[in-house]
Amino acid sequence: MKVLGILGSPRIGGNSDILLDQALAGAREAGAEIEKIILSQKKISGCLDCGKCNETGVCVIKDDMGEIHSKILEADALIHSVPVYFWAMTSQMKAYLDRWCAFFDEQWSMQKAYRPKFNGKKIALITICGDSNISTADPIVHSFKNTSDFAGLTWVGVVQASAGSKGDISRNEAVKKKAFDLGKKAATP
Ligand SMILES: Cc1cc2nc3c(=O)[nH]c(=O)nc-3n(C[C@H](O)[C@H](O)[C@H](O)COP(=O)(O)O)c2cc1C
Repeated sequence: MKVLGILGSPRIGGNSDILLDQALAGAREAGAEIEKIILSQKKISGCLDCGKCNETGVCVIKDDMGEIHSKILEADALIHSVPVYFWAMTSQMKAYLDRWCAFFDEQWSMQKAYRPKFNGKKIALITICGDSNISTADPIVHSFKNTSDFAGLTWVGVVQASAGSKGDISRNEAVKKKAFDLGKKAATP
């Protein structure tokens, strides 16, 4: 079982990062091999909507998304962790997600070649917002849940939490446990 953690916050050691590490620790405890990708340390351009990937399954943009694309295909579970920036996901996470375009054909069906790789693949989400009302992150949940359904993935669940300053979430034992359990669930067949 391979579990891939994808961090959409540029703040290393921040709240999304802390909860992602918790989730990956849960996955490791369940026996998974884990890997974390920090999107802000990668070069990922925005989708150009040139349509080439829908024909070939491969994006024309030669940046770090090619390697991430392969890691997504090989993973059994994906855990994304991202804070709310202006009522939406961060630009790093959005650029990454738009590049999922390459998994689909001209009819927006999963590319035939990728179907066996996506079959049974799980997806989970962690979101953080500064607002004390955690539903501030609902638009991000909507985006990932719909992407999950659209790609035929198995939705594991979401952990939504509130924290402002860097590392504040480390004092929230209840939410750390939820993230740990999410990772464990993602890694359990
Ligand atoms: C550019 C920017 C925009 C933000 N916009 C929002 C927002 O619209 N709503 C909100 O609740 N928090 C907002 N925040 C606060 C972050 O979501 C919050 O500080 C969070 O803990 C950051 O997570 P991190 O430590 O993983 O980076 C924003 C922060 C930044 C830097």
